[in-house]
Amino acid sequence: MHPFANTGKAMRERMVVGNWKLHGSLISNKTLLDEIVTGMAGVKGMHCAVCVPFPYIFQVQFALQGGEIVWGAQNVSQYEKGAYSGEVSASMLRDLGCSIVIVGHSERRALYGEDDAMVAEKFVAAQKGGLIPILCVGETLEEREKGITANVVERQLQAVVDKAGMEGFGRCVIAYEPVWAIGTGKTATPQQAQEVHAYIRALLSEQNKGLSENIMILYGGSVKASNAAELFAMPDIDGGLIGGASLDANEFVSICKAAAKVA
Ligand code: PGA
Repeated sequence: MHPFANTGKAMRERMVVGNWKLHGSLISNKTLLDEIVTGMAGVKGMHCAVCVPFPYIFQVQFALQGGEIVWGAQNVSQYEKGAYSGEVSASMLRDLGCSIVIVGHSERRALYGEDDAMVAEKFVAAQKGGLIPILCVGETLEEREKGITANVVERQLQAVVDKAGMEGFGRCVIAYEPVWAIGTGKTATPQQAQEVHAYIRALLSEQNKGLSENIMILYGGSVKASNAAELFAMPDIDGGLIGGASLDANEFVSICKAAAKVA
């Protein structure tokens, strides 16, 4: 059984995922990983993971294998193999010990033209390759101001349901990341985040109650050590997807500990 497979257990698990984005070097990664491993020793009651740039997956595998921290990538091809220069497949990531992969991050949607259909294909490809996709959804500031947050999130989820079926949600993690909160220092308030998390769970519940109660829904967008605990205390927030703060070992470990505390 995969560590993040939905086991049908009554209690949802907790998870914190670092998204390094386009940052790192062999030298700085080594320090960061060493400090995370040391800081996480003995922390129980949550899953800790890092999603790193492709070239460093080997290094991360070497540093983390055999331990509790898992690793993955920030993107994956929707194709298994073929003439797709520059792409990386799910099975390649699995080959390097990845368990997870982020799909549909708002930066990929906004900057690289990934639409809902492509994100859904990547979600399916990730699962076929043996990975747990972390599906990102979330609205832009404009969409929030227009009052269509719920419609946007529903559309993004529905595209995946259409391709993967509800069964697909039994082996995934969802990350709600309001685009206006990513990298801006503007965190959604715990209440704002909780409202959307509860909405997502209710939507899934219409189709499969058991699954909706067990699925992990992470919040992402300017999570820091100083605001993690209040976010994770909300009933439908099961952890975080962490960008900037995941590059600082002390911050990241504190966020993981905040998730563990409310497990
Ligand atoms: P941030 O990024 O924590 O730097 O806001 C979150 C994300 O993009 O996953």
